[in-house]
Amino acid sequence: MLGCPTIVSMDPDVNRFILMNEAKGIPPGYPQSMLDILGKSNIAAVNGDIHKNMRGSFLSLVSPTIIKDQILPKIDAFMRTYLSDHSWTHQVIDIQEKTKEMVFLSSLNQVAGIEASPLSKEFMAEFYKLVLGTISLPINLPFTNYYRGLKARKKIIRIIEELIEDRRNSQETHQDFLYSLMNGVVNRYKLSDEEIIDQVITILYSGFETVSTTSMMALKYLHDHPRFLEELREEHMGIRERKKAEDPLDWDDLKSMRFTRAVILETTRLATIVNGVLRKTTKEMELEGYVIPKGWRIYVYTREINYEPSLYSDPYTFNPWRWLDKPLETENYFFIFGGGTRRCPGKELAIVEISTFLHYFVTRYRWEEVGGDTMKIFPRVEAPNGLRIKVSFYEHSKSE
Ligand code: HEM
Repeated sequence: MLGCPTIVSMDPDVNRFILMNEAKGIPPGYPQSMLDILGKSNIAAVNGDIHKNMRGSFLSLVSPTIIKDQILPKIDAFMRTYLSDHSWTHQVIDIQEKTKEMVFLSSLNQVAGIEASPLSKEFMAEFYKLVLGTISLPINLPFTNYYRGLKARKKIIRIIEELIEDRRNSQETHQDFLYSLMNGVVNRYKLSDEEIIDQVITILYSGFETVSTTSMMALKYLHDHPRFLEELREEHMGIRERKKAEDPLDWDDLKSMRFTRAVILETTRLATIVNGVLRKTTKEMELEGYVIPKGWRIYVYTREINYEPSLYSDPYTFNPWRWLDKPLETENYFFIFGGGTRRCPGKELAIVEISTFLHYFVTRYRWEEVGGDTMKIFPRVEAPNGLRIKVSFYEHSKSE
């Protein structure tokens, strides 16, 4: 796979063992192209104490208090504006493209306070090339995605270096990840400039396709299941009724979105946003009677467990209620966000972001798919030619 001998493990117990036992010589084993383009200090490339440091720094950026006091207000302000934009109605929209743009711009705003501008446009164009490069073969010839990805990385580094330089030259304080990484807030985890840059790229990268695809697929499932859309809309209309039109969402509102959380988790399960994770052997090892040579990759394929009937009854049906009926998030085989020391530290941030998006989307709009678009689930969940929808104002169309 991408140039490496790889075994694929679909056995839930073996998968759990691997995820829980990184220290026994099974660290992440992502492809060379990904490591080259995301940088040698990116969290998936580092182990042991350096990993603890990078992870600690990341977790302190997205602690529940920071999400509540700083990130939620930012996401709220962003979504409110992004979703009021007149580019939503009276035309056909590719919601795949739109959710990607939305997630990138929202993350850039959280990371460095950058609003939609020529800089964000330039950054986004390079970032898209970087993403494509990470899933390509590492062949460094002009016109390969790998080559373009490496070039994009260089440009992005230059942009972030300039931001760091500007901040060092000014006395201004900011409430964003870059400020926290450069200053006292995460001083316990003092990072070099190179580490800061790789951390910023990692944050933008890790939350990009995961959150945008979940947002798109949530709209797809809700569109196909009007009963659940109605229930979701009721939850959000209830919140709006308690507030003035200009009031932002607060933490209590977020906590009250129980059904929304269930819709998001059910979407990540049914669509399987992440099929699995990659590990490598640092020595020859035996797993379930098989000898795996040193240096081989192990694809810890977690997709199947999402359709295990003993965990999820009627597993191929979209049923958000299952998450409210049983504590599935604390199950031993809940691998949607990984497991062990690498378990996703961005999970709650992702849920806040998607919940806020759904809030403004379903309270303002209704939508219909144009039809005829296909979905692909492997190797990644995507609509190869886009997912086209027509959006109209919710209140307006209700009174028609
Ligand atoms: C629906 C959304 C998301 C899903 C399904 C998801 C899934 C995952 C999974 C499966 C892993 C484990 C990777 C491994 O074991 O090799 C992971 C790790 C990670 N995720 Fe997420 N993720 C999501 C959103 C986010 C967001 C929004 C961020 C950041 C803003 C983020 C940041 C990270 C980071 C930094 C790691 C690496 C952790 C480590 O190596 O210690 N994720 N994610």
